[in-house]
Amino acid sequence: MTEMPLPDSVTLIRHPLVQHKLTLLRQKATSTGEFRRLAREISLLMAYELTRDLPLQMTEIETPLESMQAPILSGKKLCIVSILRAGDGILEGMLDLVPSARVGHIGLYRDPETLVPVEYYLKLPEDVAERLVIVVDPMLATGHSAAAALSRLKQAGAEQLRFACLLAAPEGVSVLTRAHPEVPVFTCAVDRELDDHAYIRPGLGDAGDRLYGTK
Ligand code: URA
Repeated sequence: MTEMPLPDSVTLIRHPLVQHKLTLLRQKATSTGEFRRLAREISLLMAYELTRDLPLQMTEIETPLESMQAPILSGKKLCIVSILRAGDGILEGMLDLVPSARVGHIGLYRDPETLVPVEYYLKLPEDVAERLVIVVDPMLATGHSAAAALSRLKQAGAEQLRFACLLAAPEGVSVLTRAHPEVPVFTCAVDRELDDHAYIRPGLGDAGDRLYGTK
């Protein structure tokens, strides 16, 4: 893991359980089923960090013994937007913790000539503008897809955005935080570098292939 200085908008999730599970996830001997399970568990723990500052309000409830004032979530409701297809491997764990969240999907491919991300799919809840939107993709590699996804969501009206990934390359952190400096970014590690094929090194390989057992 690199110790590069991170922009203030980037949070490295150092929780020991997250770091331990990430190490298991990286290993090439980890099976598809185990990889999926670990990604889900890490995502649940990430959701805990991502939602740490959600506002609360007091409400009156009845316990079996008496009435009391107790805290409940107030303010914006959540929407999790998965960048297809590997983002879906993060989505499930987050929904385990926040089952009432709405879900959006965005699909992007890289134009082979221009290398610019092109949108091929977008489905968002109608009230995305009123929600806290957490955009998820396991790998922040070049940062171009993540930056394009955030731009598209802003265009669709989203105002409060966060981005979450399992692993980031320094190049991806730089591209994303320059394009969207106000968007908080959460990652479990920032690795050494991006290689010539845009793989994160040492990384964990192709997250989509490892999640779904494809090649
Ligand atoms: N996407 C992946 O799945 N892995 C990488 O290392 C980079 C991008």
